[in-house]
Order: sequence, then structure tokens, then C-alpha cells
Amino acid sequence: MKMIEVKDYQQMSQKAAELIVEKVRKNPAIHLGLATGGTPIGTYANLIEDHRKNGTSYQKVITFNLDEYIGLSGNNQNSYRYYMDKQLFNHIDIQKSNTHIPHGDALDTEKECLRYDQLIEGAGGVDLQILGIGSNGHIGFNEPGTPFESTTHIVQLTPSTIMANARYFEKMEEVPTKAITMGISTIMKSKEILLLVSGKAKKVALKRLLEGEITENFPASVLKKHPYVTIIADEAAIADLRFAVMD
Ligand code: F6R
Repeated sequence: MKMIEVKDYQQMSQKAAELIVEKVRKNPAIHLGLATGGTPIGTYANLIEDHRKNGTSYQKVITFNLDEYIGLSGNNQNSYRYYMDKQLFNHIDIQKSNTHIPHGDALDTEKECLRYDQLIEGAGGVDLQILGIGSNGHIGFNEPGTPFESTTHIVQLTPSTIMANARYFEKMEEVPTKAITMGISTIMKSKEILLLVSGKAKKVALKRLLEGEITENFPASVLKKHPYVTIIADEAAIADLRFAVMD
């Protein structure tokens, strides 16, 4: 794993966007795996700014998001489809038909999981997957205990994840308790991974990722088995860790 240390959230977002733009310019038909949550918002804002200033084009780019809440349609303001449109897709020249997110409102959610995996595989896979990390080590919505060989599946969200998500909802009853997520093996199949880690709330998770063992109890630890992972972490997340580059 390669580790890039930056000062703060703003620098992390700039650096991440720079890396993504470089890849998109090299391969204009790149397949990007995208994440939601608080972490990548600044990265997306920087991508939008670059698109406006420098004209980086997303006409041929294909995207696959990690996850979506079950029970929410794309029109729901709390759905990840809504988030992606608002935070990125509506502001760049990407074709919406090239942007894929699991359908949380599918009638048959099991079938939807299969369809999503087949869609990714049929397209030739993900070239660069952007990831955030949960304080419990989750990636996507793969909570502790998820088998490393899991493909896209339905998850029951843990109380800590439900609580962390509650800030986006007005009432506790509205916070979804289930989601569809790319599985760990789906994520691991991507050719390259960019993990973004910011803030002191992620300090313990980052330390465990870097120093702990590879275990299904801490899903992000699987990333140590992937040959091409870059972590961009800010000072607050790094805290007393002192790694420049890790191999
Ligand atoms: C989002 C996702 C999650 C988040 C993680 C961190 O699509 O899959 O794994 O990346 O929960 O969330 P934030 O960035 O809000 O701290």
C-alpha cells in the first residue's frame, strides 16, 4: 500500500481529484468505482472545478457506485443516487446512462445484486475504485464479519453505521436499516484502489488498517492483499502514526 500524507481535508480532496483527473485524461473511457458519504464530497467538488476550468471530459467515463440504501428510490433526497447527481454527475459532462448505482427500490433485491455484479463484470470491471472507511473498518457497507469472498449482497446495517448515517435524516425511523453493497471480492477485483481517510474519527481505523492483522472482523484489512492501493490520509487521521510510504 502506498500512503500519501496531506495536511487536511482540503488537501486530501485536491490530491485525490488530481490523481483521478490524471487517470481520466490517460484513459477517457475509464471505469470509476465511486463512494458516497462525507469523505469524497470535497474530491467531487474539485473534479467539478477542474471540469469547468480545464475541460476534463467524462463523456465516455463509466461509473459504478459501491452501495445504495434499500427502500429508497433515486428521487429520495437521502438515496445515494440523489447524492451522486447532486455532488458530481449534474455538474460534469458524464452521460447519466453510464452511471450505475444499485437500485435500492428494486422489487427483487436479491436479483438486483446479481444484476449489479454481472453489469460490472460485463463492462470489464472497475479500473479505479474510490473508497472511504467506516470507523469500524467497513468498506462499502461490508460490515465486520463479512466474508472476504462476498459479492454484491444485501446487508443489515450495524447500529453504529445506522447512527453515523442518522445525521442525514430528519427522523430516526427514516434511517434505512438495510443496503445493497458491492461485496468485498467485487471491490478487490478493481484494478486499483484509492482510499481516502480524513479526520480524527478515523484515527483508530487507520491505525488498525496499517498495523493490525488481516481479518474479516475488520473488512478494510483485506486491502493489504490488493497490489495497487493508494491511501491519502490527513494529519488528523494519521495522528501519531509515522509512515511515509509503505510497501
Ligand atoms: C459510502 C460507503 C461507506 C463510506 C464510509 C465512510 O458509499 O460505502 O463505506 O465510505 O461509511 O463514510 P464517511 O465518508 O461519511 O465518513
